Amino acid sequence: MISQKSIQEVLETAKVEEVVEDFVRLKRRGVNMIGLCPFHNEKTPSFTVSPSKNIFKCFGCGQGGGPTQFLMEHENLSFPEAIRYLAKKYGIELEETVASPEFLAEQQKLDSYYIINKFAAEFFEQQLFETDRGKHIALPYFKERGFREDTIKKFSLGYAPNEWKGLLEEASRQNYNAEFLKDLGLVSDKGFDFFRDRVMFPIFNLSGKVVGFGGRILENKAKAPKYINSPETEIYNKSKILYGAFQAKNSIRQLDECILVEGYTDVISLHQAGIENVVSSSGTSLTKGQVQMIKRFTPNIKILYDGDAAGIKAALRGLDLVLEEDMNVKVVLLPEGEDPDSHVKKVGTADFKKYLEEKSQDFILFKASILMEEGMNDPVKKVALIRSVVDSIARIPDPIKRSLYIRECAKLVEVDEPLLISETNKAVGQRFKKQKKEKEQKQLPESNEQPDPFTVEKHSSLSQPAVETTDSKAAGHEFQERDIIRILIHFGGQVFDDKEETSVAAFLLGNIEDVIEDFDHELYQIIAKEALDRLSKGLAIELSYFTQHNNKEIQSLSIDLISSPYEYSENWEKKWDIYLNTQKMPDDNFIKDSQNALKRFRLKKIIRKCAENQEKIKNLGKEGDVENMMLHMRLQQKLIEIRNELANELGTVVL
Ligand code: CTP
Ligand code: MN
Repeated sequence: MISQKSIQEVLETAKVEEVVEDFVRLKRRGVNMIGLCPFHNEKTPSFTVSPSKNIFKCFGCGQGGGPTQFLMEHENLSFPEAIRYLAKKYGIELEETVASPEFLAEQQKLDSYYIINKFAAEFFEQQLFETDRGKHIALPYFKERGFREDTIKKFSLGYAPNEWKGLLEEASRQNYNAEFLKDLGLVSDKGFDFFRDRVMFPIFNLSGKVVGFGGRILENKAKAPKYINSPETEIYNKSKILYGAFQAKNSIRQLDECILVEGYTDVISLHQAGIENVVSSSGTSLTKGQVQMIKRFTPNIKILYDGDAAGIKAALRGLDLVLEEDMNVKVVLLPEGEDPDSHVKKVGTADFKKYLEEKSQDFILFKASILMEEGMNDPVKKVALIRSVVDSIARIPDPIKRSLYIRECAKLVEVDEPLLISETNKAVGQRFKKQKKEKEQKQLPESNEQPDPFTVEKHSSLSQPAVETTDSKAAGHEFQERDIIRILIHFGGQVFDDKEETSVAAFLLGNIEDVIEDFDHELYQIIAKEALDRLSKGLAIELSYFTQHNNKEIQSLSIDLISSPYEYSENWEKKWDIYLNTQKMPDDNFIKDSQNALKRFRLKKIIRKCAENQEKIKNLGKEGDVENMMLHMRLQQKLIEIRNELANELGTVVL
């Protein structure tokens, strides 16, 4: 294992422009360098490298990161592999620490799993191309289905021989551990090959390693299942893997859309037809983890359904999950009896693309119209239909989007918009209550001490309205939280106060520590907590720590937060002289920035506390609990004082 110290040394030494230039031609442009993005096809360069921030960012496809991320993405390396690569490039000698034997054994086991899966995939490929039955039965099967040889190779398709121990015996000849083959589901408990006489579809993770297999029967025998699949293992977490994601990721990024289909063969056929931004959930309904994986590449998802009514309705239910992740969901119904594989073969690429273009519908409107068809003339059904549509809309986190949908759906299902608004508001409120309950069930019961301004319960029944009338921004505090996190990441390592020797990070974190549980945005909270943890351990909180973070979400968020496609021109100083008379250029102005961001952040939290506490007072009054009511009234006074003080300093008025 590489020691933390060595990793640090490598991260501090590696220069993004030097790493990138080994693969991409860069030209100077002001303080930055630009070139043609290696992650998507482009004719005019939008791939930007910032030597001063030590990051790259493509404004075309969104890919970004530090030197290690570049290597991980471009060369498909793991983090340690990227570190080793850089160490070699910069002549740094890596210090290897001795890990605990348990850790090493576990690590070695996982490594072995990947190696064995790779061996198995190669074995199946070799069986396909080099054995009699492979050449004469399995390969023709693929060819009859219209798969070209380059496509077969691209997806590493193979053939598992019609033998009881074909794979197992080859594995033992090459000294692979038979127990590991069992762990991976390649060999059954009784010691026989699991996949026999089937064509094989290896399943890859995002970095291109084989994590499992699907095996299809050669003909459609009624008795045996059409597909059998590897079990879930330590390296194959089915709820996080999508078939084809490795081959599709660049295209998804580039086209800013992900097409979701049902089967392995659908993915492969569309690829062959030149439509490469396709993944498959392998016949199961989408999971949260899979949606989040897609979201790393694009917020737009287009789901292709075989056109039978029963299937569609079942599938619709699963889609609410995608809405909750704030993705834009479109659906396309294929003609009755066709799946993407059969349809693209029938009509060809151009017509298939045209079909997707013309027939794609917004998911919520699609759902409303389908339900409409059957519920139109039946008042009871219509109520249920409105509920179901409202329930979907209520899952969309963005209030502006919600209000747009309400308007459209009101027209579609022929109800008054205000009715739909109030129904949606109710549903949003109920969702909050439910979430709160779930959260409470996870936490220990709170002690009964005097409430302190910052630990009053979080969401009261006075939940966020679905459509805000006065405040056009999101109902939550994401904007203020984002601002804090931006400053923390970008300037956390800078000196805030010479005399007291505090850093910007210490200043910010010291001032939000008490409300750290009150973040609305989960990722921002994770970052704040992690930074606080580092601070308490005396570790540095620096830009590079976040831009090279091994949590991909944190890493790409930090790149987004600190990169701007614009550069500040010196002319601005003249043009905006009022602004610049009192403030420095934005990049240098982090002290005032952080003070104000902090105030806005705290003000938001306090206003919410006031509202919640007010509600609490009302309820306690109703229950006749006078003693507690008085307590909360005193608290309310204190809260209002703090609130007014903050508002005063910010020059705003709270109504
Ligand atoms: N599937 C499975 N087990 C089965 C049937 C299906 O795991 N017994 C999964 C496979 O991932 C399959 C997907 O569900 O790709 C979709 O199933 P289906 O539409 O029946 O298969 P196709 O992919 O269309 O396969 P083919 O065209 O070869 O029939
Ligand atoms: Mn099919």
